[in-house]
Amino acid sequence: MSILASSFPSQFRALVFGASGGIGTALMAALAPRCDVLGVARNPTGDWVQGDICDEASLAGLAEQLKGERFHLIINATGLLHDAELHPEKAIRQIGADKMARVLAVNAIGPAMVLKYFLPLLAREEKAVMAHLSARVGSISDNRMGGWTSYRAAKAAQNMIVKNAAIETARRHQQQIILGLHPGTVETDLSAPFRGGVAAEKLFTPAQSAGYLLDVIEAATPQDSGHVLAWDGSQIPA
Ligand SMILES: NC(=O)c1ccc[n+]([C@@H]2O[C@H](COP(=O)([O-])OP(=O)(O)OC[C@H]3O[C@@H](n4cnc5c(N)ncnc54)[C@H](OP(=O)(O)O)[C@@H]3O)[C@@H](O)[C@H]2O)c1
Repeated sequence: MSILASSFPSQFRALVFGASGGIGTALMAALAPRCDVLGVARNPTGDWVQGDICDEASLAGLAEQLKGERFHLIINATGLLHDAELHPEKAIRQIGADKMARVLAVNAIGPAMVLKYFLPLLAREEKAVMAHLSARVGSISDNRMGGWTSYRAAKAAQNMIVKNAAIETARRHQQQIILGLHPGTVETDLSAPFRGGVAAEKLFTPAQSAGYLLDVIEAATPQDSGHVLAWDGSQIPA
């Protein structure tokens, strides 16, 4: 297995938020043979730990529990696009304040809280990466179709939060890399209602996407910190 082959130490620890999700599960499986990986989920199974990214006290408690540990890789694979009550808007008139707040809470405020409580647990003496799953639709300059206002706005906000964190960490810990990552269109519950028109070759299995994302993380350098990188390593414009 060639994942994270050379730029990480031979033994290291990884932490994955959203370990129960489609991409999170695939990341856990891909990382398990390579490193000591700990999953975080709202409803943990096995030896995973509990963490709700919308509950600051929950994240503060988890960070306290893991205090003293050092992770060379932290991936936030949580996200929310739709559920039984929530449907991405097609028009501005469909925006609902409560629903938009939920989308912002998971996709923007949650990542900010993960940065706040878990950056102190990221290794400092050698390459270490914290990556937050983003989406190409969070790019303002790439937005040609409109729609999905809450999700687009939340991912754009997340990208700004990642950029700010990268600027701050570069001042003190030059080997730390903070990234946004676009996984492509992936066969998970999140994309299920929306991938009808996606060509077969552009639709990835979770395992495929996880492999691509880990390749991007392996290739990432401090010059990439603050950027949103797609599954193929290309930079997504802000
Ligand atoms: N799939 C795609 O095509 C695609 C495309 C672009 C970007 N992305 C991004 O990739 C990431 C992963 O997406 P996915 O496709 O794997 O989605 P998914 O299968 O729906 O998984 C979402 C994960 O987020 C977790 N989550 C939601 N709210 C949470 C909270 N408050 N606290 C902790 N965990 C929470 C869910 O946990 P529970 O199991 O507890 O609900 C689940 O593990 C997301 O950021 C998404 O926006 C996906």
